[in-house]
Amino acid sequence: MAAPAIAAMTAELAKVGNPSSLHASGRASRRVVEESREAIADALGARPSDIIFTGSGTEANNLAVKGLFWSARARDPQRTRVLASAVEHHAVLDPVEWLGTHEGAEVSWLPVDSTGRVDLGQLQSILEEHGESIALISVMMANNEVGTIQPIAAITELAARWDIPVHSDAVQAFGKLPIDFSTSGLSAMTVTAHKIGGPMGIAALALRRGVAPIPLIHGGGQERDVRSGTLDAPAAAGFAAAARWAVARQEQVREELEKLRHAMVEGVLSRVDGVMVNGADSPEDRLPGLAHFTFAGAEGDALLLLLDANGVECSTGSACSAGVPRPSHVLIAMGLSEQQARSSLRFSLGHTSTIRDVEALLDALAPAVTRARLAGQS
Ligand SMILES: Cc1ncc(COP(=O)(O)O)c(C=O)c1O
Repeated sequence: MAAPAIAAMTAELAKVGNPSSLHASGRASRRVVEESREAIADALGARPSDIIFTGSGTEANNLAVKGLFWSARARDPQRTRVLASAVEHHAVLDPVEWLGTHEGAEVSWLPVDSTGRVDLGQLQSILEEHGESIALISVMMANNEVGTIQPIAAITELAARWDIPVHSDAVQAFGKLPIDFSTSGLSAMTVTAHKIGGPMGIAALALRRGVAPIPLIHGGGQERDVRSGTLDAPAAAGFAAAARWAVARQEQVREELEKLRHAMVEGVLSRVDGVMVNGADSPEDRLPGLAHFTFAGAEGDALLLLLDANGVECSTGSACSAGVPRPSHVLIAMGLSEQQARSSLRFSLGHTSTIRDVEALLDALAPAVTRARLAGQS
């Protein structure tokens, strides 16, 4: 966590008071929650009343996907279709699939190009054919594996012609890209605290005025009757401090991370052969601070463990299903083969990363790739 977020959260932890209570301690706690809501709204270009606190980004995505599908279908029974990009995080992918399996939704996955960007031509033809029956479109703002930024403005503009609500998972974009919810055309947008230097266990769904998803969780109705559960004032304070901190440093960090990423990509390409860089090339089309490579002939999981033993922590992006590792659906959607997807790794840089970290990776990488390739041959 970022230092300002730790300070803001710990200052609240020992205080008594439920934000829904009417007594003085409750009111003091409510003030913390509402000031935090204002700061988060400010960082997102939203209004404070747009912000619904949830327990995780996963919960916010589930609320948006299921809740907006249910409410659109309740208003107009012919709206039974859901469109989502093929590269969504599992926190969107799985609720969309669940709607298909349990609620009779017809699901269309929007294809992406080789960089992971949604194909707007395909979106337009699906809308022309099925626009009247679409309940919801969900496309993430930036991808968590390869960092590709999606054309959200073009998507919301198209969707508006058929009056379709659009949700975007902005978990990876928040704190890294400028976000203005008010002009985005989005009906709903997910952000989570732990990706911007805040605590785990708190997130938010920004919901435009008048957009009312059917709740997943019923109870006290604390958050606009859309989400129930006692609000966590210390976590909200930590989230708000992280949001202020991350957005204020966004431009400077972007430049620093871009330099580090450049050093990492150049270093990897010059020291290891048979490497492919995945995702968009130009800095305007991707997140800073994230680089994704395919190391031909090396098993990603083996490489990850070899690097881990050298103090370098990275990610394969593969999901484990019933104990069997499956190659990343993101890379498959971008056209990589299963073998290429299994030979791929993501390296993420953050606000504490330095050029020494990049050098440590470069020193460890070439011998690790050689060993992983040899292990693959035996
Ligand atoms: C793009 C994206 N969406 C959603 C999530 C889930 O957020 P949370 O961990 O708060 O449930 C993540 C977390 O890794 C993510 O990267």
